[in-house]
Amino acid sequence: MTRPLRVGIAGLGTVGASVIKILARRNAVLTQRYGRPVEVTAVSARDRTKNRGFDVADYQWFDDPIALATSPDVDCVVELVGGSEGAGREIVEAALRAGKHVVTANKALLAQHGLELARLAEANGVALAFEASVAGGIPVIKTLREALPGNAISRLYGILNGTCNYILSRMEIEGLTFQECLKDAQRLGYAEADPTFDVEGFDTAHKLAILTSLAFETEVDLEAIYVEGISSITPLDLTMASELGFRIKLLGVAERNAMGIEQRVHPTMVPKSSAIAQVMGVTNAVTIDADAIKELTLIGPGAGGDATASAVVADIADVVLGKADHPFGCSVDRLEKATRSPMQRHEGGYYIRLTVHDRPGVAAGVATRMAEADISLESILQKRSEKAANQDPHGRSGAPVPLVLITYAATESAIRSAVERISEDGLIAEPPQVIRIERE
Ligand code: NAP
Ligand code: HSE
Repeated sequence: MTRPLRVGIAGLGTVGASVIKILARRNAVLTQRYGRPVEVTAVSARDRTKNRGFDVADYQWFDDPIALATSPDVDCVVELVGGSEGAGREIVEAALRAGKHVVTANKALLAQHGLELARLAEANGVALAFEASVAGGIPVIKTLREALPGNAISRLYGILNGTCNYILSRMEIEGLTFQECLKDAQRLGYAEADPTFDVEGFDTAHKLAILTSLAFETEVDLEAIYVEGISSITPLDLTMASELGFRIKLLGVAERNAMGIEQRVHPTMVPKSSAIAQVMGVTNAVTIDADAIKELTLIGPGAGGDATASAVVADIADVVLGKADHPFGCSVDRLEKATRSPMQRHEGGYYIRLTVHDRPGVAAGVATRMAEADISLESILQKRSEKAANQDPHGRSGAPVPLVLITYAATESAIRSAVERISEDGLIAEPPQVIRIERE
């Protein structure tokens, strides 16, 4: 029998503990399949005494994860600590420098330092594998890196954050508050250590940066991504969306257009009848538009210990098989530096919810500003406020009421300038809500 692949795992939280359990459960089958056993020899975390559902005494314990990363008893380092700086980054760098294969789920690290780490891996002839970093258990990295060389990809979009989709789904279906849903997502192990990364869209941006690089063979460019999260989405927006035939999803979108590559993350109105609108809960989905396959959609569990560990184990299996491919599909030096397509030039439909003063001429004032910016309205809906109607049956109370506009395709800059004018005109009582619409 070939000597085992000796694995050291740094980070024994939600994902790390699941990796240990899956490897224990699957080891005989994997050994049979690959002819080489995988043996976890070393582990590291902050607190040795924590109950993790397995016996840490079965493994060599390292208080210092860098010592684990450089240990002569470890061939492959699995980094499941997280963070773009600090211990996570140091573990990966130390391991690659020491000539160890690295498997990681750390999208923040890959999005910020992926290119230099990939260079380090290439220089040392070792693997830097990160299937688990995007969309949990969905094999989207492998798909982009290995399965589509016959395709020119034009667009890639998807639900890339399980926590946000879980929150939006439960708010819509069960009428729960944002905070209640977030708490449950944390309890279930979906959220990042700092959940603002999830709800403010940064986690989706990290994942999108990685996918964009693989899809378009370009350098990872996190700074290019326009980012908005879901924390400003209110129950009223979810209700209005539903009444208008839409659902709200946090999408990451990367698209090649005449100006370059547009990358954006924001809450998005998608038609209720669309495939992406059916993706609920912690499930993620990634759609790839390409010339040969036309459209490919991958759907699956986007977060959680076991789903993510499944992807980590797939990467460990690749190391067992001796695969040390270029981390980003080709040599880092061959990746193109893409031109950024500016968000101001983005074109699409928009949902605009204004809280207007309920009095004569307000809707006309809003419509005028829209027309001046050359924005055509597909629909306009003013919600009657019982309170305002009771105060003044002639509709002159000035009480705040929601006015919702759905526009035909317009540019981001036109929408922003119209909304700014409406604000300056004193027509609205609260900051406006603007949500982009994405049609399939
Ligand atoms: P987690 O539950 O917070 O676990 C983090 C682990 O790292 C803990 O075991 C912690 O030790 C350990 N740790 C923290 N700082 C350390 C240090 N300085 N030295 C040694 N160990 C340290 O996180 P997680 O959810 O498993 O996520 C791990 C990674 O996977 C992150 O990069 C995350 O973004 C990524 N990811 C997570 C999911 C998910 O669904 N959770 C999905 C995909 C990717 P203690 O346990 O002793 O505190
Ligand atoms: N916090 C992340 C999410 C974990 O909710 O999608 C999976 O990457």
